[in-house]
Amino acid sequence: MTLSGRTILLVISGGIAAYKSLELIRRLREHGAVVRPVMTKAAEAFVTPLSVGTIAGGKVFSDLFDRNDEHDVGHIRLAREADLVLVAPASADMMAKVAGGFAPDLATAVLLATRAPVLFAPAMNPAMWANPATQRNVARLRDDGARFVGPARGEMAESGEAGLGRMSEPADIVAAVEAILGGAAPGQGPLAGIRMIVTAGPTHEPLDPVRYIANRSSGKQGFAIAEAAAAAGAIVTLVAGPVALADPAGVTVVRVETAAEMLAAALAVLPADVAVMAAAVADWRAATPKGRKIKKAAGEPPRLDLVANPDILATIARHGTLRPALVIGFAAETDDLIANARAKLAAKGADWIVANDVSSGTGVMGGDDNTVHVVTADGVESWPRSGKGTVAARLVGRIAEALSQRRTAAE
Ligand code: C5P
Repeated sequence: MTLSGRTILLVISGGIAAYKSLELIRRLREHGAVVRPVMTKAAEAFVTPLSVGTIAGGKVFSDLFDRNDEHDVGHIRLAREADLVLVAPASADMMAKVAGGFAPDLATAVLLATRAPVLFAPAMNPAMWANPATQRNVARLRDDGARFVGPARGEMAESGEAGLGRMSEPADIVAAVEAILGGAAPGQGPLAGIRMIVTAGPTHEPLDPVRYIANRSSGKQGFAIAEAAAAAGAIVTLVAGPVALADPAGVTVVRVETAAEMLAAALAVLPADVAVMAAAVADWRAATPKGRKIKKAAGEPPRLDLVANPDILATIARHGTLRPALVIGFAAETDDLIANARAKLAAKGADWIVANDVSSGTGVMGGDDNTVHVVTADGVESWPRSGKGTVAARLVGRIAEALSQRRTAAE
């Protein structure tokens, strides 16, 4: 009952994903939350207030100037009594209105009036999500302090089109709510005062000014770990390769492009207590990236001369007195997962390797779920398939436990 005694104001805006709100309300209530739903007119076209009210176990609010509601609760009181305002699904139109400070209906008026944290779970067609106007609004909302969960990549319910725009699954939205409401105040929490480096995302290794070597890493797992660690009170620096993810709340983010830049940025963070190296660093780079675009001449294609990149994890794990007390690496494998992870543990000098099985269809680079096994000198812990946010929260819990065991052992 992690959300016991918490009031979540759930704003449901228009979109086919509104059908998932019922499942979301059910899960929030299972975690102990009181859910007060506010529906826009557009939302009522997709899910009925009767079903929302029934699952929420109370009244559904929708009219700004309903005399009864305004007398009884009123939009200011609704806004003030919430511990968190969750907008799920958040349509492009809803985010545009909130970003612009417009309040034409109850949902937007509440969002303008609230002082509680606001979490958006966007859901829309991939083209609408990618539209620069939407991206501008999202950036503005983030600047204003709003948080986001998703959107996820997948097939759109209405068109069968695939892309970034699906609303995150209810379980992942609940995990994001827990991360915010369970988040420690500065200087508190299980990782209070712990300095942590997290690397995430791919690296881009230039061949010439327009071409580069890259991989499919989305950075989602590393970003989720940085966010969960910060919510647990850690002082986190996230060194991120080129990814399309916004800075997680409460985290210092250093954006880099190449492995060499990632190594320099990671070393600059030392000393640190914990290093979590979740980046998919390119193994090789061009020996001599060309200063001008390589011409497509007739005849033989050009030969690429590659050289090995530095191993950031191994460098940090063998950094003498500056080695963090706990160094954690990742390993994406399709075969002999555990044996390969064990070998990596030794080869890189890491304390733990979080191995993810990329053959099972989950944990595939860029996806939202992960199936991981935590391999240490003491054994292997296998975790069930779950959202990357859930994996992050669990890993942060294990880190806190390990640090506290070490402290007890040292006393
Ligand atoms: O050897 P492999 O790439 O499978 O190892 C994966 C682990 O090593 C990850 O934790 C990754 O972040 C780290 N790594 C690194 N620098 C490299 C290659 C891998 O930090 N050049």
